[in-house]
Amino acid sequence: MRPLSALLRKHILGVKPYSSARSEYPTGNAEATPHITSQTFLDANENAFGSPNGIGVHRYPDPLQMALKRRIAEIKNLSADRTGTIFLGNGSDEPIDLLMRAFCEPSVYAPSGEIVLGDEIIITPPTYGMYEVSAAIHNVVVCRVPLLRRRDGKAGAFSLDVDGILQAVTPRTKIIFLCSPNNPTANLFERNAIERIIAGFDGIVVLDEAYIDFAAEQSFLPHLADFPNLVILQTFSKAWGMAALRLGMAFADEGIIRVLNTIKPPYNINILTQETAISALYHTDWHKDIVESILQERQFLIVELQKLSGVERVFPSDANFILVEFTDARAVYEALVQKNIIVRDRSGVALCEGCLRVTVGTHEENIRLVHELGQIALPKG
Ligand SMILES: Cc1ncc(COP(=O)(O)O)c(C=O)c1O
Repeated sequence: MRPLSALLRKHILGVKPYSSARSEYPTGNAEATPHITSQTFLDANENAFGSPNGIGVHRYPDPLQMALKRRIAEIKNLSADRTGTIFLGNGSDEPIDLLMRAFCEPSVYAPSGEIVLGDEIIITPPTYGMYEVSAAIHNVVVCRVPLLRRRDGKAGAFSLDVDGILQAVTPRTKIIFLCSPNNPTANLFERNAIERIIAGFDGIVVLDEAYIDFAAEQSFLPHLADFPNLVILQTFSKAWGMAALRLGMAFADEGIIRVLNTIKPPYNINILTQETAISALYHTDWHKDIVESILQERQFLIVELQKLSGVERVFPSDANFILVEFTDARAVYEALVQKNIIVRDRSGVALCEGCLRVTVGTHEENIRLVHELGQIALPKG
């Protein structure tokens, strides 16, 4: 890996983080939640009289969310001294945005109107759309190395083009985004393929593991220390059932996390989110049971969908959704909407032609979906 100082945008090296009242209070109590202490806090221009309905949000929250990070370290089996490898964001989208800001010099317009190209990222379509949107927002060049697609019906329908990715790297490539299990194809990529990319690239590799709790293989997280250029993204929006809370995680070497903490908005995770997440994360049995139920329902759907006429192929899934190829995906999508069942139409996405993406629902929802599909699905082509 190139030294962090060589990978970061030059001006980021000189940024001093905003010094908030809670980070300045000198006893190291960055995690003070003053509304529950007896100390008199007159340092942050808050409203000392409280908040409407007594909801207790009148004090600024811990900017580094240490209590929550300690709980996350416990459930992820990281030792307590590894909280410095955790960054929390407003969904996973926040660390995606911050990584782009930290590492990628944007393209700029010269006074002549000519564009002077800046740094590049590599993505592997079809994949999660935010990497490309975030790059577009920051005017960062996107290099697309599509997944390899087997059409012979055998396992491994979608895989990483490792050689293509490594050949696409230029001196301006700063980040490679990999998503495993991948959205929308639902499959895990081979561990060895991911490791070859991490080892073969001297910039940052972001491995988005949003769906890892549903996968047959383990996360890369226990091996984070072996890969100084790896950033792992996970989220509480999927298996933990807290999408509306907006809480995402990035795990990486402490140097990278320090940079993200430097450039994030000071209080990016509000107190309601922090407290709700801490209490939710004691319900590890709930998480285990729900993941188990989703896996059972996924299997139920795979079996039932395969029986339907009009279904060409049900792709294997390591996620909480299934990619399904239909004889006429658009017609099926529209017929389902008429029945008030909304799935995601991916038929216009390259390599996913003819496919709908179906999220695994509750048993009742899945039965309803299968029943309605049985009524509307078209004969096999
Ligand atoms: C691969 C992937 N990463 C990240 C996200 C977004 O996660 P969050 O809700 O934490 O922003 C999604 C959402 O669908 C996703 O599919």
